[in-house]
Amino acid sequence: MSSFAITGVGELTTEDVEGRVLRDAAVVVEGERVVWIGPSARAPAADRSFDAAGRALLPGWVDSHSHIVFDGDRADEFEARMAGRPYQAGGIAATVAATRAASDKRLEALAAKRAREAALQGTTWLETKTGYGLSVEHEARCARVAARVADDVTFLGAHLPPPGVDVDEYVRLVTGPMLAAVAPFAGWADVFCERGAFTPEQSREVLTAARAAGLGLRVHGNQLGPGQGIALAVELGAASVDHCNHVGPADLDALAGSWTGGGRGTVATLLPACDLSTRAPLAPARALIDAGVVVAIASNCNPGTSNTSSMPFCVATAVLQMGLSVAEAVRAATWGGAAALGRESGDGAIGSITLGGRADLQLLDAPSAAHLAYRPGMALTRAVWKAGRRLDGGGTGSPPRHRRAESVRPEV
Ligand code: NIG
Repeated sequence: MSSFAITGVGELTTEDVEGRVLRDAAVVVEGERVVWIGPSARAPAADRSFDAAGRALLPGWVDSHSHIVFDGDRADEFEARMAGRPYQAGGIAATVAATRAASDKRLEALAAKRAREAALQGTTWLETKTGYGLSVEHEARCARVAARVADDVTFLGAHLPPPGVDVDEYVRLVTGPMLAAVAPFAGWADVFCERGAFTPEQSREVLTAARAAGLGLRVHGNQLGPGQGIALAVELGAASVDHCNHVGPADLDALAGSWTGGGRGTVATLLPACDLSTRAPLAPARALIDAGVVVAIASNCNPGTSNTSSMPFCVATAVLQMGLSVAEAVRAATWGGAAALGRESGDGAIGSITLGGRADLQLLDAPSAAHLAYRPGMALTRAVWKAGRRLDGGGTGSPPRHRRAESVRPEV
């Protein structure tokens, strides 16, 4: 098995159990795994060596919430929103129409291009959802595509009831034939528990059926207003409840309580780019962390509310606008995302740099992770490795360079 060393790391953020940050460090990778971490001067020999020249090395981003399987453009809706119109979930229907009309080849090419764009900004683990198909045939097709381009797939047939259908009848479709058709491709199920989408009772039906089919649970909750999404997610032991813009005291207690007593709780996944793009009240990241809730940050890349897969942008926003420290934001975008996917520990754990762990790494073109927020919007991703394999086009020992994602005709 071939090995390589990354030496001369100015700042190594491990996100290991002790949260160690090492200076002048080195990491040695053999195959897919990290086999040595320590002072650069003592790094053992490896087949190849890469001099980080004082740059910062971090775990790759774990983007635990995205919707990259779609066709169509909603820039007009975005512009109207920026001119004062509020976000409405109904825009999803426009994307459903465009997605259904796309050929299999085109849909996969678009999704693969988005996954590649994410990787070039340091994302080494990507979750993505169905939810723009909303029929048995189209949800299954979206799930097949998602399984080809992403690492974790979530069934979101309960994204929005298609216009004109009886919602209870649609819930029966989602929990019956649609779930059966999608389950072979998915590890998770999700529901948009929100006024205008699915009621708490309908959401419970969807989640209960999905759990019985062996899928893990996630919830879109408390995005557009106060509601039962967070409470339901905690009650059903969902791995994550996502958005959390409207968090009342009882929601905060429920989320924090889910992490007491040594058990695995429900992660609050915050979506800073979505909050900006919908001009929503920012999720109360500071209050959640202060209350002891495990928080993740994700991109929510989708054509309606957050058309970006840039985790560096999300991290910078969490720091500059949501009141997190750089260390908290980086942790939420790496280890926190892994926790939201139940993958933060055990063999094959992601979201941290640990001995024996997967070599999912990103090198910044900066001496410290602080530059992610200190120099927001700058292209700071210098090199990316996923399971020990270089993703950004550079060889292990060659000078890093940026490569553009393959081009696919735009969705207009
Ligand atoms: O996570 N909230 C629901 N789903 C997406 C929005 C999808 C859309 O508007 O197309 C979200 O923000």
